[in-house]
Amino acid sequence: MAIEILALSRLHPLAFERLERKYTVHRYLEAKDPAALIESVALRVRAIATGGNVALTREMLGRFPKLEIVAFFGVGYDSVDVDAANERGIAVAVAPHALLTADVADLATALLIALARGLLPADRHVRAGDWKRKGPVRLGTTVFGKTAGIVGLGRIGSETARRLEPLRLTVLYHDVERKPGVSYRYVSDLEAMARESDFLVVTCAGGAATRNLIDARILGALGPDGYLINVARGSVVDEPALVAALKAGAIKGAALDVFAGEPNVPAALMGLDNVILLPHMASGTRETREAMATVLADNIDRHFSGEPVVNRIV
Ligand code: 8YV
Repeated sequence: MAIEILALSRLHPLAFERLERKYTVHRYLEAKDPAALIESVALRVRAIATGGNVALTREMLGRFPKLEIVAFFGVGYDSVDVDAANERGIAVAVAPHALLTADVADLATALLIALARGLLPADRHVRAGDWKRKGPVRLGTTVFGKTAGIVGLGRIGSETARRLEPLRLTVLYHDVERKPGVSYRYVSDLEAMARESDFLVVTCAGGAATRNLIDARILGALGPDGYLINVARGSVVDEPALVAALKAGAIKGAALDVFAGEPNVPAALMGLDNVILLPHMASGTRETREAMATVLADNIDRHFSGEPVVNRIV
């Protein structure tokens, strides 16, 4: 009997191709009745492959008595209860890759410039025929010489900082602690960093420790000329507070690749011109998704052939 795997997310075709060579793969999202699929396979599933769209709570993990590994199609593992997995000896592995880090950092940088220069409203202006009818667009904000505060100087935060430096931004960072060997100024107080920043770039991990880290107080400190960029997790930002801040002009604009209840985006954001809304696409390049598929399939193969799983969280 082939080992049975539950794929909870829309994985890259290469991941399915690799996994289906060796295992029986149940595709949750393609099932006519996803809940019934889980019901029928839960007792046999030994691996879950996921992009994080379904919460693997203690209770959910409890439905899979034979589960040995949760392999992420991505680097964020905030959707799994790591303690519950650890207690049961379930391995949790992520799929980091230099290409993923680069792509997400590229997108954060692109969003910063796009926000400051109003690229999306300008594009809409041209398409609507308003250039001819109404004249030029509103003036943008200079990026050169400004200050960017990075929230979470991990792999992605560091790579983003490396891109912002040649744009002549002063880079500050906030994290749980100062990182050794880093030349950017560490600011232990997030509110103080937000006050100093023109751009607050969120690149930290999701999960309980960072839930609503960016709240009304931090947005207030960022101020009416400040911009928020979030390529991390929607949960890090208090969305109702963000909507209120954008509407009241308490911050100037926001670029969001991630949302608290994806794929649902707060309706209040849709009508705002000072926001960029993207469908969680920072790692969405052919190259990176292929690399992620390879890391994911390698991890599952390693596990079932008794080799140590790499990039293991627990
Ligand atoms: C998603 C991500 O995993 O790496 C992460 O943590 O958020 C993304 O790469 C990807 O969109 C697949 O769901």
